[in-house]
Amino acid sequence: MAVDPLIELRNVNKYYGELHVLRDIDLTVGKGEVVVVIGPSGSGKSTLCRTINRLETIESGTITLDGRPLPAEGKALARLRAEVGMVFQSFNLFAHRTVLQNVSLAQVKVRGRGRQEADRRSRELLDRVGLLNQADKYPAQLSGGQQQRVAIARALAMEPKAMLFDEPTSALDPEMINEVLEVMRQLAREGMTMVVVTHEMGFARASANRVVFMADGRIVEDRSPDEFFTDPRSDRAKDFLSKILKH
Ligand SMILES: Nc1ncnc2c1ncn2[C@@H]1O[C@H](COP(=O)(O)OP(=O)(O)OP(=O)(O)O)[C@@H](O)[C@H]1O
Ligand SMILES: [Mg+2]
Repeated sequence: MAVDPLIELRNVNKYYGELHVLRDIDLTVGKGEVVVVIGPSGSGKSTLCRTINRLETIESGTITLDGRPLPAEGKALARLRAEVGMVFQSFNLFAHRTVLQNVSLAQVKVRGRGRQEADRRSRELLDRVGLLNQADKYPAQLSGGQQQRVAIARALAMEPKAMLFDEPTSALDPEMINEVLEVMRQLAREGMTMVVVTHEMGFARASANRVVFMADGRIVEDRSPDEFFTDPRSDRAKDFLSKILKH
């Protein structure tokens, strides 16, 4: 594909003690690409996401973002974290801050924006995720789906180059899943570079450029959603699909 690479992992290996959790991972995510990562529990999907914004260190290999190796520590690492937005299954909002403050805080602390400028941007982003009217509430006063949309707005407020989503809808009641997926579909349409760990195969089919299937710390398949879903090559992927598509 003739797109510029934004995230590149080359021959990445990671261990937790004796456990070899990422094995010779090679993955390129182009600018504007949406890559959905799927695979059985324990296959290394979360670890993969966490290495990309260096919440986890790696034992060997290289990871570059926009052509530059990931910084190891200090200010450069803080900047990197801002450049790669991350949204987790649990929303991780600050409970004692309002929705608006949650979205503004890091803009002031990490990006050095003035309070008013930060709040103005926060309101724009809350509007985009359909929550402008909730700006003055506290997280506990919102539904799970609303909290997750705040978490997405908060990550976007850093103007990230890429967004990582680790099972963003897994903790949500069914009726709230779609409102979060809709925000993600919109982001994908707008050209955001995204790595998404999800069991939402509808999202993968409709919005992903590629599906990466992991098993036992390896990338077993890396193909278009169409090819992957209609003709999975590996037994592991066939087995996995037969299980999840039954639901
Ligand atoms: N902090 C840790 N210390 C030790 N082992 C860990 C740690 N985090 C994860 N592991 C192990 O690493 C392997 C990969 O875990 P990971 O969380 O990346 O899997 P996953 O594909 O995200 O699974 P799930 O679908 O259940 O979220 C698992 O065997 C897990 O038990
Ligand atoms: Mg996980």
